[in-house]
Amino acid sequence: QNDDQQLVIDAGQKQFGATTCHSCGMLYSVDSPEDNFQHTQFHQRFLDTIKFVGWKKERVVAEFWDGKIILVLPDDPKYATKKAEDVRRIADSELGFQQVNLSSPSAAKTYLFINSDKMVVGCLVAEPVRQAFRVLEQPEKMKDMTKEDFMEHHRAWCCSTVPEKAICGVSRIWVFSLMRRKGIATRLLDTVRGSFMYGSPLTKVEIAFSDPTPDGKLFATKYCGT
Ligand code: ACO
Ligand code: ZN
Repeated sequence: QNDDQQLVIDAGQKQFGATTCHSCGMLYSVDSPEDNFQHTQFHQRFLDTIKFVGWKKERVVAEFWDGKIILVLPDDPKYATKKAEDVRRIADSELGFQQVNLSSPSAAKTYLFINSDKMVVGCLVAEPVRQAFRVLEQPEKMKDMTKEDFMEHHRAWCCSTVPEKAICGVSRIWVFSLMRRKGIATRLLDTVRGSFMYGSPLTKVEIAFSDPTPDGKLFATKYCGT
């Protein structure tokens, strides 16, 4: 039944020339001049947002051969907090979050991965938490659900109802679509664990993921080794 539905959707998309841009992620119709115009604009705004010109003062918390991670704190200069917020918005729109506010904006730490082309290709927002609900193993039959089904139902089953102690909550983690599967999310999280609490590295179990998406869940289960 799922297959049938998928076919119908595909046919519809072909008919209207719908396509998803692989870099900005926008779904639009190539046959519509209006859509093309909107896409060009959105695409440019997206590129402007992830462009990173460099700051006089950067809090570099990790360096790699292909980039670096900088940390932005709530009391940093406006240019830094604005960039962090703009990138977070991009992540939110891709995660399907509508205007979700941070649970503790004054304590949120934003980690940005900057690549050698001076683009922000990864973003992680970490907040202190006291308790969290462990993500449970994904039942086999859920694995071929559509993204929409998943988003609708996952809250109900993916998390345990028993609160457990955690210290650092990851409320957002996002990697630029063209740069995925290069260990960027892994390096962001390793860096968070090492720098979130001064002088005391966190273990994997002290990190909690809030409301993971399908991608987020696959990544989190791999990262935490469950
Ligand atoms: N499918 C299957 N396994 C995956 C996936 C995936 N989509 N993504 C990561 N993994 C696993 C793999 O085992 C991978 O190792 P491998 O590449 O050697 O096989 C391992 O996790 C490490 O992956 P990374 O390269 O470190 O992860 P990446 O940099 O690609 O980022 C992320 C993962 C952040 C989930 C990215 O896919 C993304 O931005 N997705 C869209 C936004 C999103 O859904 N974010 C999570 C929201 S949940 C939250 O914010 C709390
Ligand atoms: Zn685009």
